[in-house]
Amino acid sequence: MKKDLVILGAQWGDEGKGKVVDLLSAEFDAVVRYQGGSNAGHTVIVGGEKFVLHLLPTGILHQHTIGIVAQGMVVDLELLVDEIEGLEKRGLSVWERIFVSDRVHLVMPYHKVLDSLFERKGKIGTTLRGIGPSYMFKYGRKGIRVCDLEDKDRTYKLMKENLEFVQDLCEKVYCENHSLDLDDMFERTMESYKSIKERVVDTTRWLLKFEGRVLFEGAQGTMLDIDMGTYPYVTSSNASALGLSNGTGLPPKYFSQSDFWAVSKAYTTRVGEGPFPTELTDETGLMLRERGGEYGATTGRPRRCGWLDLVALKHAVEVNGLDGIILTKLDVLDQFKEIKVCVAYEEDGKVFESFPAGLTTLSKVKPVYKSFRGWLKDTRGAKSPSELPENALSYVQFIQDYLGVPVVMLSTGPEREEYFWLCQPAWKEV
Ligand code: IMP
Repeated sequence: MKKDLVILGAQWGDEGKGKVVDLLSAEFDAVVRYQGGSNAGHTVIVGGEKFVLHLLPTGILHQHTIGIVAQGMVVDLELLVDEIEGLEKRGLSVWERIFVSDRVHLVMPYHKVLDSLFERKGKIGTTLRGIGPSYMFKYGRKGIRVCDLEDKDRTYKLMKENLEFVQDLCEKVYCENHSLDLDDMFERTMESYKSIKERVVDTTRWLLKFEGRVLFEGAQGTMLDIDMGTYPYVTSSNASALGLSNGTGLPPKYFSQSDFWAVSKAYTTRVGEGPFPTELTDETGLMLRERGGEYGATTGRPRRCGWLDLVALKHAVEVNGLDGIILTKLDVLDQFKEIKVCVAYEEDGKVFESFPAGLTTLSKVKPVYKSFRGWLKDTRGAKSPSELPENALSYVQFIQDYLGVPVVMLSTGPEREEYFWLCQPAWKEV
């Protein structure tokens, strides 16, 4: 039986999905991105060479894969073309292996203008890539899809209406002018479309007919999910497993045979604003940031760092129906004498063992920690459990006992080869 695999982010994004998807893609025939847009920054290091992908599925770096940009994404066409050409220049053939959904919504320059303006009032700390406004237009039925570009007159009319609306909003609400030119925007969009046109298909039907094995690549993380995350400090798509069906157009039943795994760091990070109960603003937090190289791949912003939050992680296990966790960056903890994990939240004597929805509660809760003795040994590049110190093994064991799902793989460094399996994955037996 064909076994597909879904890889999600279990935390607030930046868990190391890029590396994991890249190495697992070797076993799959097609790789699919289905939500978010260029707010993602998936970093992969192959043979010392660094690749950062924002729109393309990471698995495209393997020459045998077909890459799908599915309908739930919001796409800046110019960036997509640049990303493909950038890889082509580096010797990877991408054009003949990529398909873009005809239903994909476009991120237009006016969405980026709005993203910046919205950030001035009620800061979320977005990536300023126009993601939220593009989804606003989609759900407000003002969006422009790739399939619309076939009809030039209609596209021009839609762009004109949208630009006038944004102009009004800028002037009347924010007392600002923008410098966007309709004709220039239209020409550039059509120019990008010309490059990509041959690769535009109905990706839902393509996937329904495809007989090979498919890896679905989530972007951002469960705690940034528009419905299940720390709303409103979230991204504007369903970054959890909830986004799979609407993001691909595939029926929920399609995924019943798939494995669902999520990637988590051995500690926690987040970028942008919003609740983060285990955040450390002291020396320990700084040490996590420096040892983990915790700076955004898309924006370069320093990431907020803290201990592993098992309450949030358990939420991810439940919401996504996870079959396993892939743990990354354990080596970042190598030099800590004491390591803590959050096992509950507490507020005024009330204990929370599940993740609360309310922002007010989340901003008040204090983490209840369990302490572990550090291992103070180098684990970078370890290739089997026997190479891990006893204390590191106890740490991993505790995580899987608490979550009730296995830690299936440990990633032990940024290079493709730096990982090992802790249990045999089901799809390897197919
Ligand atoms: P947006 O997706 O640009 O609208 O940003 C909304 C929130 O999601 C902000 O806190 C961003 O920092 C965060 N975010 C968006 N994409 C990523 C990502 O790929 N990794 C981590 N955080 C992200």
